[in-house]
Amino acid sequence: MLILGIETSCDETSASVVQNGRRIKSNIISSQIAVHAPYFGVVPELASRTHLESINGVIESALREAKINFSDISTDISAIACTKGPGLAGSLLVGQITARTLSSIYKVPLVALNHIEGHFYAALLDHPSLKPPYLALIVSGGHTELIIVHSFGSYHYLGGTRDDAAGEAFDKVSKLLKLGYPGGPLIDKLSKDGKKDAIAFPRPYLRGTWDFSFSGLKTSVVNYVKKVEQLGTISSNLVNDICASFQQAVIDTLIEKTFLAAKKYNMNKIVIGGGVAANSSLRKQFENTARMEKIRLYIPSPTLCTDNAAMIACAGYYKFISSVPSLNTNAKIEPSMELSNWNG
Ligand code: KG4
Ligand code: ZN
Repeated sequence: MLILGIETSCDETSASVVQNGRRIKSNIISSQIAVHAPYFGVVPELASRTHLESINGVIESALREAKINFSDISTDISAIACTKGPGLAGSLLVGQITARTLSSIYKVPLVALNHIEGHFYAALLDHPSLKPPYLALIVSGGHTELIIVHSFGSYHYLGGTRDDAAGEAFDKVSKLLKLGYPGGPLIDKLSKDGKKDAIAFPRPYLRGTWDFSFSGLKTSVVNYVKKVEQLGTISSNLVNDICASFQQAVIDTLIEKTFLAAKKYNMNKIVIGGGVAANSSLRKQFENTARMEKIRLYIPSPTLCTDNAAMIACAGYYKFISSVPSLNTNAKIEPSMELSNWNG
């Protein structure tokens, strides 16, 4: 069974064809990094305009790579899966309207999904034997969430971002240090030449809750940089140390809370998803801790950590086979969508 996935919730225009929820036949991602980089962040109006320019070509490429003709969508594609929310309203609209149009023309059912669902199913694409139950940590530009995935479509939300998400903190610290956008990959790279214990930034554990808060940590980096700048310019060695120390504070916080939640809820599998899961040091340290704690860890390859339509097609497959298919061409976007179970 083939599902066509469409993802446009933020600044990546992506379309993908996935077979039986696991096998990627194509996964085309058109990144808008160059459009937003001069502004050190995503500009919503530019994002929706750029999605509009790219979406048709991206879908055409995804179908071509999967060896499907447009005229054969009705027979070859079982369902179209698209992101309903959360995300930027204008960006979501482009993907949603395109999916609705294709669904209506080719009479193919439409499955609308929560973007976060895509992130915590992404690991299934790299690990064919992986199945729920598992504990999922989603760390992206807009989210830092801990969720128990009991089974496909049945979730228990433990906690999430109270203010800045992990990726947002990376992007803001990068902007502060004038490194560029997106900040995560740049800080990841510079951290390799820095000392992670050079500066004692705080670890925002928020004990007693499963929530996260990275805004205080970011403010602490801002205050540190201001203090140093009063004494002169910041050397490149110090920039590396700030990056490594900040990154380590984020990683320590994520590791502590995730493994504590796994223990508390008796989970022997942890899945990580979202752009920050592409961080090389985070991956290594989670792997080491998982080995020590005897917990199986699943992190998707970096391309499947950041936004992509294969993860939406994967989640769409499980939703499609578990529910009554419908044309659903009136599906609406939900920019502030919360995570809920498929069946109420
Ligand atoms: O999942 P994603 O592509 O989009 C959202 O749903 O937000 O995540 C993007 C975020 C950005 O904040 C970016 O800086 C961060 O993921 N990111 C990283 C790395 N690669 C991307 N953060 C840390 N280290 C990385 N290597
Ligand atoms: Zn995302």
